[in-house]
Amino acid sequence: MKVGILGSGDVAKALGRGFASHGNSVKLGSRTPDIEKLKEWRKEAQGETSTGTFAEAASYGDIVVFAVLGTAVDEAINLAGPKSFAGKVVIDTTNPLDFSKGMPPGLFTGLTDSLGERIQRELPQAKVVKCFNTVPNSRMVNPGEKGAEMLICGNNPEAKRQVVQILKQFGWAGAIDLGGIAESRWLEAFVPLWVRTAASTNNWNSMFKVLH
Ligand SMILES: NC(=O)c1ccc[n+]([C@@H]2O[C@H](COP(=O)([O-])OP(=O)(O)OC[C@H]3O[C@@H](n4cnc5c(N)ncnc54)[C@H](OP(=O)(O)O)[C@@H]3O)[C@@H](O)[C@H]2O)c1
Repeated sequence: MKVGILGSGDVAKALGRGFASHGNSVKLGSRTPDIEKLKEWRKEAQGETSTGTFAEAASYGDIVVFAVLGTAVDEAINLAGPKSFAGKVVIDTTNPLDFSKGMPPGLFTGLTDSLGERIQRELPQAKVVKCFNTVPNSRMVNPGEKGAEMLICGNNPEAKRQVVQILKQFGWAGAIDLGGIAESRWLEAFVPLWVRTAASTNNWNSMFKVLH
């Protein structure tokens, strides 16, 4: 599978390593694809990797991952070109964290909208699945916790099934599917709580696990 990842930060690099190490070809997209940190990432990552612009990464991927700063989602869509997402599974990892009042953050979308919904609205032909946004990048691939399930949502059942297969490859037990993409509001609202918990325990690799 060819995977296009929009982003050059820790999430893009962690998921890029994960996808590449499981036999996929990965292209990371950035406004400055030639920067040193991405050259280093390519040297370390196992498998087939490349870098390019947002537009190149989006058109490259059979699957496209959003891993940009929450406030940059619209800009990333504009730079990538909305047509490149049509018909594709789009994994959205982003969070609308609002640091305008400092730490800890709030949500700039409020609770009546979300970035997951915004991406789905702007890309109506894409099959958007919200995933990975509730866990730190260090745990996205090989979470290091037996039986852990990812919280996901999205409108397209087949796209969610594909994402669950990816999660299982990445070492997750599976996913808890919260429903349609509007549930992104609550997946995203979970993250300011995660930030507060991580700050209070001084453990930025911590994650929540659902006990059954
Ligand atoms: N860090 C984590 O552990 C974690 C965990 C779960 C979810 N998330 C979410 O995942 C997303 C990525 O997080 P991150 O920590 O990897 O990186 P980040 O610092 O939040 O975002 C970096 C990416 O955003 C892009 N970006 C920033 N401003 C932009 C603009 N004006 N226009 C277009 N692109 C812009 C950068 O593009 P360039 O490459 O061009 O610089 C870069 O690729 C965020 O939404 C975050 O909330 C993060």
